[in-house]
Amino acid sequence: MDTKLLYQDPDTFITPLLAIFSVDSATDKDAPPAPTLLSTSAAIFKAAAQVLASGEFKATLGETILIHSPIGVAAERLLLVGLGKLASLSLDELRKGGGTALRAAKPRGLRQVAIAFPETPLASASVARVIMEGVGLAEIDYDIYKTDRKDLSIHTTTLLAPEKSVGIDTGFAEGNILAAAQNLTRSLVNEPGNVLTPTVLGQRTAAMCAEVGLKCEVFSTEKLHELKMGAFWSVSQGSAEPPALIVMTYEPAVAPAEGSPVIGLVGKGITFDTGGISIKPADGMEKMKYDMAGAGAMIGAMRAIAELKPPVKVISVICSAENMPDGKAFKPGDVVTAMSGKTIEIINTDAEGRLVLSDGLHYAKTLGCTHLIDAATLTGAVAIALGKLNVGLFSNDDATVENFTSGLPLSGEKYWRLPCTEDYRDQIKSQIADIQNTGTTRYGGSITAAMFLKEFVGDTPWIHLDIAAMAWNDEAKPWLASGPSGVAVRSIVEWVRSYAKETLDPAHRAQ
Ligand code: BES
Ligand code: MN
Ligand code: ZN
Repeated sequence: MDTKLLYQDPDTFITPLLAIFSVDSATDKDAPPAPTLLSTSAAIFKAAAQVLASGEFKATLGETILIHSPIGVAAERLLLVGLGKLASLSLDELRKGGGTALRAAKPRGLRQVAIAFPETPLASASVARVIMEGVGLAEIDYDIYKTDRKDLSIHTTTLLAPEKSVGIDTGFAEGNILAAAQNLTRSLVNEPGNVLTPTVLGQRTAAMCAEVGLKCEVFSTEKLHELKMGAFWSVSQGSAEPPALIVMTYEPAVAPAEGSPVIGLVGKGITFDTGGISIKPADGMEKMKYDMAGAGAMIGAMRAIAELKPPVKVISVICSAENMPDGKAFKPGDVVTAMSGKTIEIINTDAEGRLVLSDGLHYAKTLGCTHLIDAATLTGAVAIALGKLNVGLFSNDDATVENFTSGLPLSGEKYWRLPCTEDYRDQIKSQIADIQNTGTTRYGGSITAAMFLKEFVGDTPWIHLDIAAMAWNDEAKPWLASGPSGVAVRSIVEWVRSYAKETLDPAHRAQ
């Protein structure tokens, strides 16, 4: 799909479909819906007047109505796209609105879509950005393995902006970059385990890096042994597929001042999780192809970082393996030694994510990272704790969390911090080794997993994102296909950019 930004009046633009955003401006809870358009065009208001007055269209979020041959407007069709209540309008509704417009056009076989830039009090650069994010994300349908798939691709989406106001072009470009990055993540997560092995994940990552000018190294078994990554290797040893240790490096054009932050992005890349010898039940096991969604998020984030070029150094470490039961597989009761030197008693081979990440986090520190973030489909328990609306966030440093949270109004993603304090540490005490890989009880399973990771980051400021419940959408939305969500890409990119600001502004750094 091509995207274009034009500074032109929407009512004179010739297109098969022109999308106009609409909100419910009723303020009283019990008042009937009062749909109105986020437009200043008298022609468009006139063409939509009957539909708006009919009561058929309430402008709820994701609702659409189509008006054919609108009088006084050059477009062949007007598509009114609901964004919900005016009072609660935020960037996220506009992102979803952009997606809804595109997904309404697709099944109609239309190839060109135009979107009228909405009149809102929100910053226009951000508005342009989120609309293009929504449009880009909505383009994807997960039908690549269907031999009877129909080509419903949109060829061009045009954003029609009112006048050359500063920032719209930057926001537009950033939105395209972020959508492409998140779609890369989603397409990787969609791949079945037989296609996307750790080796193939390494190849695809290297290809992306070559395309955007990132340094990329892909290692395997030998390097794991050389680095003494006993925890990572223990997970991999039962699979016929070799592991992949992927290291991506982004160096800003101008070398940052000495002492500037070096950001480390660490991803769990289990390309299939059977549970190993502690094997999972068959029901739903096919979903465990998405156990590399944390790695996918980091790969997508690195792509966006390479294109957005923040002035901060970023290193990403991806730990990819397949968790299989086998004669050579690791077993409950085994004791392994992590790269950090800590010994780990394996209680459950299905708690494999924390094992690969323990070595990944430690390795990222040895590469010079001063701030760490990891993303992982780590525990089923996070879905029990938070449902499927918030990512579980854990950290050892409040300032780092603040930096992360500051990007959320723009990324539109939801995170909820859960505790990760020393009083939980007893859970991972082992009889025989330094620590064990699961808790003594099932309670607080996501916290136990975070406590395990915390053992390997030491004093380095760190955030752990448990995306297990959020990486896969079971239901389709008017703005998005069901399947891989690509969660965390946008928020991680904003977090990295928050350090770019710190690098440039010495006053802020001195605080
Ligand atoms: N990959 C799973 C977690 C998961 C569950 C991701 C559901 C996505 C959806 C992880 O490796 C796992 O198996 N965790 C265990 C930990 C337990 C053995 C302590 C779990 O959550 O049951
Ligand atoms: Mn597991
Ligand atoms: Zn797993």
